[in-house]
Amino acid sequence: MNHQTPPPEPIRELAHLGHHGLYTPDLDGSLWYFVDLLGMDIVEREGSTVYLRAYGDYERWTLRLSQREKPGLEYVSWRMWSPQALDRRVEWLEKHGLGGSWVTQEYGKGPAYQFEDPDGHVFRLYYETENYVAPEGKKPVIPVNVQAYAGRGANVHHCDHVNLLAQDVRACREFWEEAFGLRSYEIIRRADGSEVGAWMSSSLQGHELIYTQDNTSGNGRLHHFAYVVPTREEVLRASDIFADARIYIEAGPSKHTAIQGFYCYTREPGGNRIEVANGGYFVFAPDAEPYVWNLEEWSQKPGWGAPIPPQFHLYGTPVVDPEKELVR
Ligand SMILES: [Fe+2]
Repeated sequence: MNHQTPPPEPIRELAHLGHHGLYTPDLDGSLWYFVDLLGMDIVEREGSTVYLRAYGDYERWTLRLSQREKPGLEYVSWRMWSPQALDRRVEWLEKHGLGGSWVTQEYGKGPAYQFEDPDGHVFRLYYETENYVAPEGKKPVIPVNVQAYAGRGANVHHCDHVNLLAQDVRACREFWEEAFGLRSYEIIRRADGSEVGAWMSSSLQGHELIYTQDNTSGNGRLHHFAYVVPTREEVLRASDIFADARIYIEAGPSKHTAIQGFYCYTREPGGNRIEVANGGYFVFAPDAEPYVWNLEEWSQKPGWGAPIPPQFHLYGTPVVDPEKELVR
């Protein structure tokens, strides 16, 4: 093998998806969904903002739910590998005219640098954080675990990935690849070079950040957050829990073609789409190229996953076109 012209050194400065903010017009309903049905815990509450975590999260909190008139995304964050990595990425953003500003964070998290992606979604980068310390009664028997097995509701372990809607998927993908070294593992591309979907990751995990086409005129919208359970069977169990709770199951339980995760999609009472997920493959080869689907190949939908309902490709939060998006 010829290494005379080596590829550029990859940027490896994002450690993992961090904590995220969601807006809900029905805070009590959303809390019932996240706490009783998903099995997450409330860590702090301050007025109409509530901080939560799943039982596998090592950080003190990972979800900030705030009451607002409309549902939608407040921000997505990444934890950095080091304070130096944080400084380097901020420097890159500012040098390229894409900078934002520093924001103060609550309850044990250090300052974050906040900026927007090309579609207007708000992102934060941070390093300092406070770890969760389980109180008596929640201490795990195996000390490397964060807390004792929760065993409540769907019993989600942590947030697995975030799917955002974008007017220009390709521009968003190229931004994250260039600025942060995210790897794209699968892409759906039209004949004209524009893209319908891109599945990206900072790690071996098949997807952390996904962009799919926004088929409305909206910007900065959320398609879904996905919370992981350790087995496929637990996705089915979650579906039983949602059904008896009269929660609308929009898609699944079934298996995706891209990245091949097993899924169940619901909408929490505030209107945000949430997935309970399991699986998806890992990519070990450091030089793996993304798999690029053309539309014809994609439409054949190889594999056994169930058809996705049309509103899955329209509905996002905040809703911009209720007539189209809300048809079930
Ligand atoms: Fe997903």
